[in-house]
Amino acid sequence: MFNSWMLGHDACLMLADRLRELRPKVAVEFGSGFSTALMALYCEHLVSLDHDRAKAAPWPCVTVAPARGGTYRTELPDGVEFALIDGPPAKRYGRHGTFPHLWPHLTVRFEVWLDDFDREYERSIVADWSNRFPLDVRRVDTAKGLAVITRKES
Ligand SMILES: C[S@@+](CC[C@H](N)C(=O)[O-])C[C@H]1O[C@@H](n2cnc3c(N)ncnc32)[C@H](O)[C@@H]1O
Repeated sequence: MFNSWMLGHDACLMLADRLRELRPKVAVEFGSGFSTALMALYCEHLVSLDHDRAKAAPWPCVTVAPARGGTYRTELPDGVEFALIDGPPAKRYGRHGTFPHLWPHLTVRFEVWLDDFDREYERSIVADWSNRFPLDVRRVDTAKGLAVITRKES
């Protein structure tokens, strides 16, 4: 059932545990799939984005929008408490635009997870985001590496 495009099973279990605690009112997912079903269980309002209608998860919370500038070209909801960044496909489109796109929509106590943090590309974009925004970043030990990004405590 699991394939290499999906969040690893370890990250899925952590995601379910964390969302069960947080119960976000508004959540956004960049890159739909199995993780969408998981997030929908615990998030009151979920917006999931995908660039590819054929690959997108087949649920009403999924919006298909073009991938450009390292994000999806669509409006985001306000009051985002939790986001998972697992798209657009990094090698083809990049993901560098996702966090800057999200930033004006985040609540004060947001939590953003970025998958594939052990790849050089994801490391470099998080370093760039940390230079531009007041962020704390923590690596969580999963098979692909996971960055947990929160607002820097003042
Ligand atoms: C990393 S995947 C997202 C996976 C999703 N978050 C999950 O855990 O199930 C990012 C994007 O890759 C695309 N994708 C999914 N499966 C694919 C496949 N087998 N081949 C090519 N692209 C795929 C989809 O458009 C998806 O939004």
